[in-house]
Amino acid sequence: MEADPSVGFIGTLAPEGRGTLFELEALGGAFERRFRRMRPEYDEMPWGTLDVSDLPEAETIAARKAWTGAAFQEYRTAVACTATLRALLECKAPVDLVALATRFPLDEMVHVELCARMAMELGGGTDLRSIPIESSWTPTRRSARSCARRSSSLASSASARRSRSR
Ligand SMILES: [Fe+2]
Repeated sequence: MEADPSVGFIGTLAPEGRGTLFELEALGGAFERRFRRMRPEYDEMPWGTLDVSDLPEAETIAARKAWTGAAFQEYRTAVACTATLRALLECKAPVDLVALATRFPLDEMVHVELCARMAMELGGGTDLRSIPIESSWTPTRRSARSCARRSSSLASSASARRSRSR
């Protein structure tokens, strides 16, 4: 039996006051240190230097909403990348292709954190709610299979070309 691939988060934005609140947290400590070593971009940003005191409040709120929305979209992308990674594994895609794909969720978590931190720099995230939907996995898996087949046939073609040129 195939595991339910639903990650329970990919969903649509909810009408005001409904849905699940988009919130993030970090454990800190050893987990955060390891994360920073893996992806040091966060520490390279000039955090705490953005002065928005001259901006009209409406513009600051609009910016906070935009960065909160961006963090949410990056989170959704991380979910989609993870689903793709799982699909690649389940369809036994070539090892090097799977290995490359393992990096994508980490990249997205960096983006999530950067966007969320930008919202915090502006005064904090805004209320963003989504309605989780059950798996929309099939198209992703189909796409991963197609990708794996294509990379396999590319590898075969390359191998055939090398053989012919010898
Ligand atoms: Fe991203």
